[in-house]
Amino acid sequence: MLRTIGIETSCDESAVAIVDSDGRVEVSLLSSQIAAHAPFGGVVPELASREHLKALPYLVNQALEAAHGPVEMVAVTAGPGLIGALLVGVRFAAAFAWGRGLPLVAVDHLEGHLVSSLLCLDGGPARPEPDRVLALVASGGHSSWYLMDHGSRVRLGRTRDDAAGESFDKVAQVLGLGYPGGPAIDALARYGDSSAVPLPRPRLKDAPFDFSFSGLKSAAVRWIRKHELVDDAADGGESSAPIRDLAASFEAAVVEQLLSPLPELAAIHRPQLVTASGGVAANSLLRNSLSEWGREHNVETLLPEPALTTDNAVMIAHAGQLAHRGGRSDDPRRLDARAREVWQPPGMRRGLSRAGV
Ligand code: KG4
Ligand code: ZN
Repeated sequence: MLRTIGIETSCDESAVAIVDSDGRVEVSLLSSQIAAHAPFGGVVPELASREHLKALPYLVNQALEAAHGPVEMVAVTAGPGLIGALLVGVRFAAAFAWGRGLPLVAVDHLEGHLVSSLLCLDGGPARPEPDRVLALVASGGHSSWYLMDHGSRVRLGRTRDDAAGESFDKVAQVLGLGYPGGPAIDALARYGDSSAVPLPRPRLKDAPFDFSFSGLKSAAVRWIRKHELVDDAADGGESSAPIRDLAASFEAAVVEQLLSPLPELAAIHRPQLVTASGGVAANSLLRNSLSEWGREHNVETLLPEPALTTDNAVMIAHAGQLAHRGGRSDDPRRLDARAREVWQPPGMRRGLSRAGV
């Protein structure tokens, strides 16, 4: 593999990383836009593009200075994501590759999350991908189970409405906990009673591996409004017991939903490894529950370090390396960004949610 600079600008994090020929992380830089978007209570697409424009040249220069050798390839997230934000990264990467005569590889953001569990930040090399991996990707934009099968990808189940991270963010927003909400709910939930608030856990009869989070989210929001729960911690006070209980109950319901297809999927596909990635994979209950399931069922589980679960450029650089090793190269003059999940990671077969795929 070639020493690769990865560039990620699909949402509200500008990220640049350099990964060496063995998949060792040489540098991983991140410029978060949380403060810029905070006054608006969510990500403002136009603002995101402008922030990426400001941050990228600085991050790339810093990364090149810290690299352990000359960069040989460029990998960039080309979708899915916010179109303006993606275009900033794609055009920057294309110009960089074109100007230096380096190969350029467009990476699907989800493929990045899928390979993130093979990477570490302690200076070790990337782990080779086992033949059969069951992988959960749960983030602010996606919640799906995949089978990574001898390098190909099959989506086995997905959310029918909100993404898991989106539902954490919404509930946190209504509680006045700010954005992103997942980490705040995670922290509060540790001190709450997860059986205190009755919340639905809908299952879809026709698609047993799909999830739905919108009913769960709405039930939590109704409970918050009915009981007039607003977090006081921002004013220096402590979060009340009902808020901690709601956080714990909501978190438990989301994690239960996310992991509910696992026993049957594992029985069908007999994976060597089960992973979870994407921002929600930083959640402590999800991490503990998945690890415990693996111990109980004697299946290896692997969770990326929290800094690799949320958006980062390390996973983009490595996904680009693997794709390039498989023969992929993109024309810097023609490369475009795509907002929607229209094109799939390499080898992806489409939308199969039932057993026996
Ligand atoms: O992967 P990511 O950084 O961006 C997307 O591709 O969406 O994921 C961000 C999402 C946010 O919704 C955030 O609230 C959620 O991941 N998140 C968490 C935790 N940390 C981040 N959700 C639950 N628990 C956490 N500890
Ligand atoms: Zn992501």
